[in-house]
Amino acid sequence: MRWGIVGHGGIAPTFIEAARGVGHDLVAVAGRDASRASDFARDHAIGWSTDDLRDLAGRVEAAYVCTPHDGHRDASITLLEANVPVLCEKPLGVNAHQVEQMVEASRVSGTLLMEAMWTRHLPVMAACGDWIRQGRLGNVQMVEADFGFVAPYTPSGRLWSTNSAGGSLLDVGIYPLTMADLAYKSLPLSFEADAVMSPTGVDARISVTAKYPNGGSAILRSAIDLDLGQGARIVGTEGRIEIPDFWQAERATLFSAVGEKVDEVEHPHRINGFEYQITEMARCLDYGTIESPVIPHARSAALADLMDQIRSHVGVVYPADTEAVL
Ligand SMILES: NC(=O)c1ccc[n+]([C@@H]2O[C@H](COP(=O)([O-])OP(=O)(O)OC[C@H]3O[C@@H](n4cnc5c(N)ncnc54)[C@H](OP(=O)(O)O)[C@@H]3O)[C@@H](O)[C@H]2O)c1
Repeated sequence: MRWGIVGHGGIAPTFIEAARGVGHDLVAVAGRDASRASDFARDHAIGWSTDDLRDLAGRVEAAYVCTPHDGHRDASITLLEANVPVLCEKPLGVNAHQVEQMVEASRVSGTLLMEAMWTRHLPVMAACGDWIRQGRLGNVQMVEADFGFVAPYTPSGRLWSTNSAGGSLLDVGIYPLTMADLAYKSLPLSFEADAVMSPTGVDARISVTAKYPNGGSAILRSAIDLDLGQGARIVGTEGRIEIPDFWQAERATLFSAVGEKVDEVEHPHRINGFEYQITEMARCLDYGTIESPVIPHARSAALADLMDQIRSHVGVVYPADTEAVL
């Protein structure tokens, strides 16, 4: 497949490595500034660059949008309207309203749109889903997942600024929420949330305790100012699963209710883990669908709505939220 990428920051080389690793081509880079985009293209042996992403139409078979969060919606809609299939970084939009607009653009143009929540595509997650479906955990009663790291405090940087929809929840808290979503296959019925706010008005840390329809609960934490680690546990009445580095999981272990190891899976990444979402895009295009069953539009929309509710609870407001109520 011939890919274009929109945005050329920290994560872009990971995507490029994975795409090339599975035999796809990188043929174009779009950025805000022509010379920066051109420098990136040269450094990564990509033959063409532009400062106008509309130029990608006709040149590429799909585009990977990896701008900061506040740029996802506009870039994706522009591409979808030009019939360019889009793999857009997480979170798909800054809020549920933006996600709705993006999904609408996908439906109207009949063009594939998928959120790049790569964790959902990992084979380890499929194996954990099998264990749950086979009843090996009994009734799932608790999910614990953390994703926290220490980011340098740069008030205007994308992680810390409200303008770029920064904060821990949208950047990394979306992974623990996804873990609970995979385990319970449901949104919570209710939740409590506490945040430590940054001076810039984003959540430096957030802790969510949620209750699910089957009576289970989840404790989900994220931080951009604290190294919480990145582990996950799914605990049921008959056993538990431990998933180290769950967001990029390469292995998981199943324990019995009395703590004996009863099974494990290991799936080392073939490239760096991004390859699974890339091949899923190709599969969806072959199949002619506008959404992937691995992460249907409705799941992206449901989690965006949940994150809106959590932000509203702790008082994180982005400029884009004002637009949503107009
Ligand atoms: N899946 C993962 O594991 C993972 C990991 C890290 C990040 N991410 C996601 O990837 C996205 C980007 O993160 P990052 O860490 O790569 O950010 P970054 O290092 O800040 O890079 C952002 C890039 O986007 C460009 N940009 C900014 N606004 C733009 C716009 N309106 N149109 C086009 N380009 C624009 C910037 O270019 P200029 O400023 O030079 O113009 C820069 O090249 C975020 O959504 C983040 O959540 C995912």
